[in-house]
Amino acid sequence: MICPMCAESLPRRRRLTVDDYVQGVLEGNRAVLAQTITLVESNARKHKQTAQEVLRRLLPYTGNSIRIGITGVPGAGKSTLIDTFGHMLCEDGHRVAVLAVDPSSTLTGGSILGDKTRMENLSRNQRAFVRPSPSGGTLGGVTRKTRETLLICEAAGFDVILVETVGVGQSEIAVRSMVDFFLVLLLTGAGDDLQGMKKGIMEIADAIFVNKADGANKRPAQKAKAELNRVLHFLQPATEGWTTKAYTCSALTGEGIDKIWDVIQRYKQTTMASGVFDERRRRQTLEWMEAIIEEQLKTRFYEDRRIQRLKPAIEQEVIEGKMSAAMAADKLLQALDKNGGIHTQEQKDNEVQARPAPPKKIAHIGIAVRSLEEALPVYTEQLGMVMEGIETVESEQVRVAFLKIGQTRIELLEPTSEASPIAHFIHKKGTGIHHLAVEVDDLEDRLEQLKKNGIRLINEQPKDGAHGAQIAFLHPKSTGGTLLELCQYTTGHAEEDQS
Ligand code: CO
Repeated sequence: MICPMCAESLPRRRRLTVDDYVQGVLEGNRAVLAQTITLVESNARKHKQTAQEVLRRLLPYTGNSIRIGITGVPGAGKSTLIDTFGHMLCEDGHRVAVLAVDPSSTLTGGSILGDKTRMENLSRNQRAFVRPSPSGGTLGGVTRKTRETLLICEAAGFDVILVETVGVGQSEIAVRSMVDFFLVLLLTGAGDDLQGMKKGIMEIADAIFVNKADGANKRPAQKAKAELNRVLHFLQPATEGWTTKAYTCSALTGEGIDKIWDVIQRYKQTTMASGVFDERRRRQTLEWMEAIIEEQLKTRFYEDRRIQRLKPAIEQEVIEGKMSAAMAADKLLQALDKNGGIHTQEQKDNEVQARPAPPKKIAHIGIAVRSLEEALPVYTEQLGMVMEGIETVESEQVRVAFLKIGQTRIELLEPTSEASPIAHFIHKKGTGIHHLAVEVDDLEDRLEQLKKNGIRLINEQPKDGAHGAQIAFLHPKSTGGTLLELCQYTTGHAEEDQS
């Protein structure tokens, strides 16, 4: 099968394994690269685990690119500039990936890079890879996906990553936090723009380019550049030890575009030498970790079924003024804690799946009696039950009479000494039902798991019981008051049952 976008063969339509994804990306297979990004962007639970495993395996191959953020006021000609700039870099032997962060694509259903014709040259270039903004979710979600896509592109051998974003505030800050160099694109008439453009964006820029400096617009563009440089002079630089300056360029004629790369190269040398480059990347990784924690805490809250159940009613009370916003928030967060808020819904679901198979049957019910001879007749003579035999279990200092009833038994337990647990039981609680035994076939595993889960065990290791069984007792404190025995038959006892 041939992918129409890149003329490379797609692996046959089966579900790719982690190995397939990793290998495909490292080989630079564009079809697999695109599929890997789709996997990472997926919100489906079943994809998340695979995606994280793929990323973990790709991580050693990441980091070898210059990451460049680009923003600009609407109409500044960002797409044309990226098209020209990216093409130039490809001609120079670079491999260029263009990504985007556009949270508004959730609302509009489109994306700033959705229309590939806007970067026609570049998206046809074999050395370039153009990926629209992930859509859906919060800015945090979009940012996470783009960051992970950035790493995947690095692993695929792209050495220049351009991250484009729209000129709307928060998304710039998000992109600044994932790139080495941040470029702001402006237009002439920047005087007006400057008012609207607020200091904020200039403060995070490592370079400002005034685009469309061509034809009659060239002079005004140069004027704007000078004006910007005056303002920049008074601002704290975005990067320690680097002076942010304004320049002019024309994406249309290509004039000044090479200057962008020159500035970036100079920037890289300067900040690499001073250690600022690596220091920023380290800091960004930590910030990213924090961001993921925040995002996941939010996800856990909103995906929690108990919260989903409680929230509408509590919201109503807030609307009606019966509860303050702070109280409502407290109440919901408490509900999350009660629900074991440390677990995601996914983990809870997995726990249910990981529940062990139920015990096979009730193996026997143990009844404490003072004397077998006194107690037996009512079972045998009055009820007509068959006595299978009497056995002495040394470990428990007890004599046991086995009375068969269907697939299970009643065991009458008579203490053979004062030290017998049965003697203690009779002293404390009198005669009567002493324990319930259920048959399992994985006793040791169960004991290990029960112990891990904090269940109180009387026997952490199996011990010998009657009829050649391996047995272990759970403490009544962990079972709601009943002494519970788990037993496993290792001899031919189970077959005996069939007869
Ligand atoms: Co027993």
